[in-house]
Amino acid sequence: MRIGLCGVGNVGSALVELFRENRFEIDRRLVRSISLEQVACRSDSPECDLSGLSVTKDVFAITDNPALDVVVELIGGTDVAKSLVLQAMRNGKHVVTANKALIALHGAEIFSVAREMGVKIFYEASVAGGIPIIKALREGVAGNVINRIAGIVNGTSNYILSEMSGARGDQNFVAVLAEAQKLGYAEADPSFDVDGIDAAHKITILAMLGFGASVNFESVHVEGLSHISLDDLKLVDELGYCLKPLGIATKRCDQLSLRVHPCMVEKNNILSKIGGVTNAVLVDGDPVGEILLVGPGAGGPATASAVMSDLIDLSRGADLPNQGFLELRETSVYSIDELICSVYIRVDVKNQNGVMASVTGILEKNDIGIEAIIQKEVNERVARIAIVTSETKERIINESLSELSSLSAMVVPPQKIRIF
Ligand code: HSE
Repeated sequence: MRIGLCGVGNVGSALVELFRENRFEIDRRLVRSISLEQVACRSDSPECDLSGLSVTKDVFAITDNPALDVVVELIGGTDVAKSLVLQAMRNGKHVVTANKALIALHGAEIFSVAREMGVKIFYEASVAGGIPIIKALREGVAGNVINRIAGIVNGTSNYILSEMSGARGDQNFVAVLAEAQKLGYAEADPSFDVDGIDAAHKITILAMLGFGASVNFESVHVEGLSHISLDDLKLVDELGYCLKPLGIATKRCDQLSLRVHPCMVEKNNILSKIGGVTNAVLVDGDPVGEILLVGPGAGGPATASAVMSDLIDLSRGADLPNQGFLELRETSVYSIDELICSVYIRVDVKNQNGVMASVTGILEKNDIGIEAIIQKEVNERVARIAIVTSETKERIINESLSELSSLSAMVVPPQKIRIF
């Protein structure tokens, strides 16, 4: 099986090295031998040794090379990447990609061309880096009805929140993001990480695989990290929670709920222990129950490990449906307004008598229970109140936040964080 590689960046160079370093182990797991023949690399000074390989600057020289059987797409983005993947498949080649945006946004078209051409498109590396979550959903729990998939699927956001909440709690967001970029975790455009878009791409793919649903990426409710302050992180900690960047896909009465946002997780929940760039995906299936897969979610070597596993599967001639199901069903997604969960509400109010009663009065009027409450004096003029509510419909919470905002004692608009 002759392989052409498009893109020799962080992941591509780790893959080239993996071919050399683990050659013995890889060879003994293959059914057909595999060889990396040609690479497309735009840089004149690649991050790895490309000697012995045919090198081109043109990715379409790879898709159109009749001597190749498989194209590995590691250039990222959705424009050139989509054209090259479609062209490779139309030329009868199998494709392996790490490109979550491509699968999340154009999966339907890509899978349909793959079916038409009788080729495979494998994408293990597109979700949660080195964790074999695609294989787990497509194969390991294939006998289950999946009810929920939830977890930390963006390593950069988890790294940022962990660093901001941990021993280095004085670190600001910008400094920690710069570190994540330097370590090779972040996307080329890091707003994809911190605004939740990368995680939304991944949750779209997981929902498709887990529920057999054709998922429109636009239907995922997405919130990023930018509104999270160090003050909130301290209060979250004091209330007994950790803040985690979660992607959550659930199925309820044949409807899906798809959301990505920072979420408070109780300190005794295992997800709260997952720090740094590590990812964790929890799958709740019937009859298996809950399984949790944990591992490095970003970085060249971990992602290359996932790409290599797809190449080995291809060499074995695995006849796996690309989408995990032969057909995906149209499934409606319910609005975030209908979500029922507990939330944290933080208000900064004028430090004067009777304000606490006005705040709790609004919650009481809207039938929102209070599970925990903390009040602190910020200074002589401002008091801060943090509340954990009972489970309530999001629409009611939002209406209550509007009412709180209009209190004359409100100093800054209230903050809300959902609880897992
Ligand atoms: N930027 C991504 C992350 C890389 O931080 O998780 C892996 O998809």
